Amino acid sequence: MKQKILSYLSAECPWRDTLHWYSTLDSTNTKAKALAAAGAPHGTVVVADAQTSGRGRLGRSFSSPAGKGVYLSVIVRPACKPEALMHLTCAAGVAACKAVEAAAGFSPQLKWINDLIFEKKKLGGILTELSVNGKTGLVDYAIVGIGINCCQQMQDFPPELRSIATSLFAAGKAVSPALLTANLIQALCDMDLTNKPALMADYRTRCITLGQDVLVLQGDVKQYAHAVDLTDDGALVVRFSNGNTETVNAGEVSVRGMYGYV
Ligand code: BTN
Repeated sequence: MKQKILSYLSAECPWRDTLHWYSTLDSTNTKAKALAAAGAPHGTVVVADAQTSGRGRLGRSFSSPAGKGVYLSVIVRPACKPEALMHLTCAAGVAACKAVEAAAGFSPQLKWINDLIFEKKKLGGILTELSVNGKTGLVDYAIVGIGINCCQQMQDFPPELRSIATSLFAAGKAVSPALLTANLIQALCDMDLTNKPALMADYRTRCITLGQDVLVLQGDVKQYAHAVDLTDDGALVVRFSNGNTETVNAGEVSVRGMYGYV
């Protein structure tokens, strides 16, 4: 599988030499974190054929059956403060859309902040994690984890996900996981985190949450609101029915559509 991924990846891609492939991991993010803590360089890529404990945002799990999806994490080491990386999940979302576009010929949409969506169903997700150097206050490393449902038929999803999940195969776009993996590696390698306004402008055009009525979930609290804007840091600006506007952060809040997942 590693050779197949490399066969699709440009000979010029500087991340070719730091690709680690595993048949099974608990989580590619967890493995990438361990490698980063042991000094693995910027651009180290961890790919697994299956994950036994694939993780999502806010403590959720990510279904990761063998050979059915793409499960990938990358170590990035931008020399900056954590505040300068608030848009990382959005940047990774744009990169993931471009990779699907290149491999499958269509572009998914993004549900704020980290879900890839096709026809109102979840096609994949992104989990970013940061480690900050206690002495310098700078980012030591960030892990960008991406999972994309590739070859699943509906029965491959756990029953509780069948109404909200989809895959490229189920969407009629059969794609080789190795090709999609290579496209993801290239798109993440090409990601320019320094141009925040341009990145966020791109994210906004792909984001289906903007302009929608949404249910804002914060712990046990649920409130209806209208999604009016996104900041250049990737926070969502919502207006509640009493007219109050609030900027909500993806670290604490998730949103659902009023009539379903999207
Ligand atoms: C979410 O749905 O909230 C995000 C899902 C992210 C899943 C990917 S799969 C590769 C990487 N390893 C993980 O454990 N999670 C991410």
